[in-house]
Amino acid sequence: MKQKRLYPESKVELTPFIARNYDMLLKAASLGRYGSFVRRAIEAMDLKSGMHVLDLGCGSGYNAALMLPFLGPEGSLTGLDISIDMERQFRRRFQHYTNVNFKNQRIDIPFDLGKIYDVVFMSFVLHGFPHDVRGVILENVSRHLKPGGHLMLLDFAEFDIHRMPFLHRWVFTHVECVYAFDFVQRSWKEILSLYDFEYFSEKSFFKNYIRLLKAQKKEAFQEELRF
Ligand SMILES: C[S@@+](CC[C@H](N)C(=O)[O-])C[C@H]1O[C@@H](n2cnc3c(N)ncnc32)[C@H](O)[C@@H]1O
Repeated sequence: MKQKRLYPESKVELTPFIARNYDMLLKAASLGRYGSFVRRAIEAMDLKSGMHVLDLGCGSGYNAALMLPFLGPEGSLTGLDISIDMERQFRRRFQHYTNVNFKNQRIDIPFDLGKIYDVVFMSFVLHGFPHDVRGVILENVSRHLKPGGHLMLLDFAEFDIHRMPFLHRWVFTHVECVYAFDFVQRSWKEILSLYDFEYFSEKSFFKNYIRLLKAQKKEAFQEELRF
């Protein structure tokens, strides 16, 4: 079913066709390397048994399925997305799991699930929004993380588009949306510091064009000290 797009110049709100075939299209576009890349990124997240994970813009649940074995039966995963086609795939994939939940929830407006998590994961979602909307999303992230919990941001890294080899630049500027162009030029550790994150670490993929950026939400006692 076609849904109204709030950001027509972005590609983050997928068409039904792309949503239904998203995982397969990524595998084809990456010449089969997508699966091993995501697996390595998720291994690097250092997830532990019993952790509770919130996946914003969770898509079909492809990433969630790779995270679940690390979380074990005591852990849980909650996925949020607005695409009906993604929801259908996610629900089908996890129909026999009691520790996996899906909610049709916009992440670009303030919301409160009434619960806090050990990890908030976002994969190829944040770059697709205008910068002021990214701020709303980061406030949602912070609201749903335990003090000391982690944001795991799997997305484009920081780089200068003008210094990319011609072919890479051509692909990036023709495939990606305008919001990705400013995303890669921003200093994300500085931005995340403004949302109470610290202790950053990162792992790079695909010639440093993509990274997993880990950021820890400040502990409660540090928040209190600032006032
Ligand atoms: C590029 S896909 C990434 C999917 C998944 N995270 C992955 O890495 O496979 C972006 C996802 O964000 C979802 N999305 C777009 N806008 C959203 C919004 N405002 N609130 C929640 N999800 C949104 C889309 O439906 C889509 O599933």
